Amino acid sequence: MSSLKWEKIEDPRINCRIDAHWNNLHYKQSLKGGEKEENRCCVLSARYKAYMDLVKNYEVREDDIWICTYPKSGTTWTQEMVWAINNGCDLETAKKLPLSSRSPTLRKIISIQAGIDDPADVFVSMDPLNQVKPPYHIKNHLPAGLLPDKLWTVKPKIIYVARHPKDAAISFYHYYRMVYQYEGTKDDFLSLFLEGLTEFGQQTTHLYDFWRMRNEPNILFLTYEDMKKDLTAVLKQVANFLDKELSEKQIEELKKHLHIDSMRENTVVFNVKNNAELAEKLKTAHKDFFRRGEAGSHKDEMSEEMSKKFDALIKRELTDKGCNLYKPEQ
Ligand code: A3P
Repeated sequence: MSSLKWEKIEDPRINCRIDAHWNNLHYKQSLKGGEKEENRCCVLSARYKAYMDLVKNYEVREDDIWICTYPKSGTTWTQEMVWAINNGCDLETAKKLPLSSRSPTLRKIISIQAGIDDPADVFVSMDPLNQVKPPYHIKNHLPAGLLPDKLWTVKPKIIYVARHPKDAAISFYHYYRMVYQYEGTKDDFLSLFLEGLTEFGQQTTHLYDFWRMRNEPNILFLTYEDMKKDLTAVLKQVANFLDKELSEKQIEELKKHLHIDSMRENTVVFNVKNNAELAEKLKTAHKDFFRRGEAGSHKDEMSEEMSKKFDALIKRELTDKGCNLYKPEQ
C-alpha cells in the first residue's frame, strides 16, 4: 500500500529472542470522528508486511462481529463472552472448540482465505481450518486506521475493550517475557511502552481513536475495569448490543464460565510450529496467560517514578484531549 512506510526499529531495549524484527509502520488515517487526516505510527513485526494490503481490502461481512483491542486489555475474556452470548450460551460447544476457531484473529482468516502459510507465525491453531466459518467473531489488535476500508461502510458490530494503560503495560511486559522471550528489564520495557514502541504501537492512541467513535451505533465501547466491577451489567449491555436475550440462569452460568479460573482450564490452545523450545515453554502458558486478572495490579508492580511517567502520558494523550476514561493518579 503506497501510503504505508515501513522503517526497521533498531533499539537495544527491544531485547527479545523471538520475532525481534519489529518495524515501525507510518501511515495517514482519516477516521470517522477525526477532524482531518492524521499521521500515525504502529509497530508490527515484519511478517505483517505480507498482510497489510489484504487487510485493507478485506471483504467485511455485515454479520461479522469485530472484537478490537490493544493487547492485554481483556481480549480473550471478551471473545469468550461475545461468542457465548451470540451463540445462545452454548457452553458445551464453547468447552469443546478452541477459542481460536470460534473467534479467530483477522490474520488467521486472511491467511486461510489467501492461502498464506506463514512460517514466521508461531501461533497456529490446532483445529482444522474448515472449522472457521462465518459469522466470524474476529479478534483484532490493529489500530483503527489500519483496518479494512469496508469496515467503515459495511458497518458490522464492533466491540472495543479498553484497559488502564498502567495495567495493560504490566500485563504486556509479562506476555513479552513469556511469548517473545523478552530478556530486558521491566523499566526498559515500560519505557518502550511509553514511547509507543511495543507491538501495535501507542496504546493510548489506539484507545483514543476508538473512544472518539464510541457513539457510533455499530460500536460498543467497553472497559476491562467495568467488566471487573460489574460483569452482569456488561453481559446485559453486550446482549442488548447483539440483539440477544439472556435469562437470569444464563447470566449465572456465563459468569461461572467466564471466571478467570474456568478460563484458565479451558480456553487458550497454543500450538507452535518451527520452534520446539517455545512449544515446550508454552505448555504451561495457561497459568501465565491468565495471570492476575485484576484491575489496578500495576500498584504493586510499577515503581512510583514510572507510575508518574504513565500519569504524564495519560494526561497528554487522553485527558488533555477530552478523554476522561483514565485519569492521572497524581
Ligand atoms: P493480567 O496479565 O493483568 O492478569 P488479553 O486477553 O487481551 O491478552 O488480556 C490478558 C489479560 O486479561 C491478563 O491480565 C489476564 O489475566 C486477563 N484476563 C483474562 N481472562 C480473564 C478473566 N476471565 N477475568 C479477568 N481477567 C482476565
